[in-house]
Amino acid sequence: MGTYREMYDESIRRPAQFWGEQAKKIAWFEEPKMILSQDARGFYRWFHGGKLNTCYLALDHHVKTGRGDQLALVYDSPVTNTKETYTYSELLDRVARFAGGLRRLGLEKGDTAVLYMPMIPEAVIAMLACARLGVVHSVVFGGFAPHELAIRIDDAKPKAMISATCGIEFKNLLPYKPLLDEAIELATHKPPHVVVKERPMLECEKVPGRDHYWREVEDADPVDAVELDATDPLYVLYTSGTTGKPKGIVRDNGGHAVAMKFSMDVVYDTHAGEVFWAGSDVGWVVGHSYIVYGPLIQGCTSILYEGKPIRTPDAGSFWRVIAEHRVKTFFTAPTAFRAIKKEDPEIILRDPHDISCLKYLFLAGERLDPPTYRWLNRIMDVPVIDHWWQTETGWAIAGNPAGLELFETKVGSATMPIPGYDVRILDPDGRELPPDEQGNVAIRLPMPPGCLPTLWNDDDRFESSYLSDYEGYYLTGDGGYKDDDGYIFIMGRVDDVINVAGHRLSTGEMEEIIGGHDAVAECAVVGIDDDLKGQVPIGLVVLKDGATIDEHDLEADLVERIRTKIGPIACFRQNVIVKRLPKTRSGKILRKTIREVADKENVIVPSTIDDPKILDEVQESLSRRQIGKALQTEGL
Ligand code: COA
Ligand code: AMP
Repeated sequence: MGTYREMYDESIRRPAQFWGEQAKKIAWFEEPKMILSQDARGFYRWFHGGKLNTCYLALDHHVKTGRGDQLALVYDSPVTNTKETYTYSELLDRVARFAGGLRRLGLEKGDTAVLYMPMIPEAVIAMLACARLGVVHSVVFGGFAPHELAIRIDDAKPKAMISATCGIEFKNLLPYKPLLDEAIELATHKPPHVVVKERPMLECEKVPGRDHYWREVEDADPVDAVELDATDPLYVLYTSGTTGKPKGIVRDNGGHAVAMKFSMDVVYDTHAGEVFWAGSDVGWVVGHSYIVYGPLIQGCTSILYEGKPIRTPDAGSFWRVIAEHRVKTFFTAPTAFRAIKKEDPEIILRDPHDISCLKYLFLAGERLDPPTYRWLNRIMDVPVIDHWWQTETGWAIAGNPAGLELFETKVGSATMPIPGYDVRILDPDGRELPPDEQGNVAIRLPMPPGCLPTLWNDDDRFESSYLSDYEGYYLTGDGGYKDDDGYIFIMGRVDDVINVAGHRLSTGEMEEIIGGHDAVAECAVVGIDDDLKGQVPIGLVVLKDGATIDEHDLEADLVERIRTKIGPIACFRQNVIVKRLPKTRSGKILRKTIREVADKENVIVPSTIDDPKILDEVQESLSRRQIGKALQTEGL
């Protein structure tokens, strides 16, 4: 592979040459004519003129080159007691037939499809079938409420929605079809087709003329992969921005395929024939890149796990899955391990599973807090690697490049910029800051292949959100610093985005919803530290003059509102009434000040309580009261 420094310098000095070389490693139908170019608006584009198909790279190519009998996908679902395996040939067959069925419904290149799926093989099949046809898929995470789904339907304007009758959370069966029907009801755009996978545990009624059962659609002749331009979109994935309107992150076909292949080699050191497991969900970018596209393009076996780290059936499920499927590389969010540590910190010591197959543990999606890192480092025999990335980039910006060389770990740091990313720390005037000084983390353009070329149908917002603050740079929205050795430390978002259990949420959107309550004059939502989820939102509300609502009633109203509008994953559970909100002279709410005041309160739990349920309740009420008290002490 060569050393990191050599490769990194080359990628920054001569990006077109560097990525031109990397691009030779994938099976194009036609080689690109230009490696790097700029479109009419000046946005960078990779591999112009190249022709390919991402589904072909993920499946057909492997079957053609002798990997047909190797496992492509292992579905492991402790919540349904099911395990299924698919070889590359079997997966190709199902994908090609489902694609045939979609084509029969009239879907073709350039159309869009919105997927609202639990973690079942059909989610992967539907994504790949869309990719095969050149239909742009947009997967919406199952924890979002109908209102959020409707916003995405109206933006993506799908010709088809693909879903399943239900999802399963721990032991709870969550019917998806009523949520889907409600979302379509709420949306202005009405998708002409809905395809529903009927799961054995729940049936559903069809809306005549619109709905189709999965089995009817898949009962079709297989179709070949269509030829696409490198710059054609593969998918749109919505992520939280600073307002209620999510951003549609566009991923192109050519840049993405090259980046996925490169990252599997350089970031994850995981190769054809080896087993990769991303413990995430297909609704998030990690699921797109490393449950579906990265491992399959690389010819690996990918694990699709329908379950949680805990209580499915216990906190040892990760070790069971790693041992049983001989996982080499495991990737999840720190919150998953915090959940295990909270539930049963001794589990690894008692666990009988042989996990000698495991070579790396990768963590991302939120800051890897030092206590969790230290605990993992103590209990695991493999490198614990923090790496930093975003939905926008689709793959790691900084990490410890296992495929090149492993640097010594510095706790709290995501280590080095990955080749292709020229990461700079800037002050508000765009001056580069010296080592150890914290500022805005920006990436010098061009970003490497795979990163978003623009936002779906919104070039203006792409420019204003990411490119206009500093000319020639992409603004990440994260704050952080580099040390003397060039290690990157990401300290958290500098905008109105928070990260709850590895899920990215907009406080701005929550404020819009709370602000709509009759009794509320103004409000702020900030993320405060949480032992399990990293951050959780808390609302601070100033009542309208004369409003007499009781604090608990208001809290219950607001919790319900946010759950209904955004969904359960918002985890909004606390709201405090305050006299006023701290503001700048121009009227901007000082969120940082509020966060600092709220975080100052460390909740002390009486050590005599050992019933976990009572403990939780006490902790909850203490933290609420203490935050309220702290804010009052500060005169808010
Ligand atoms: N469909 C429907 N509802 C969902 C859902 C889905 N796919 N995912 C989560 N929810 C619901 C949960 O049931 C919960 O609802 P509740 O308020 O009725 O209990 C709510 O959303 C909050 O979910 P979450 O924040 O995930 O909390 P949890 O207690 O269910 O699980 C963890 C906590 C830490 C175990 C879980 O977040 C986890 O496994 N995280 C690690 C992996 C990960 O998510 N990575 C993200 C990207 S890398
Ligand atoms: P998402 O787009 O959902 O992947 O969230 C991206 C955001 O999560 C980033 O902008 C960071 O704020 C945060 N994040 C992801 N990975 C890390 C990490 N390794 N360290 C610190 N923050 C991270």
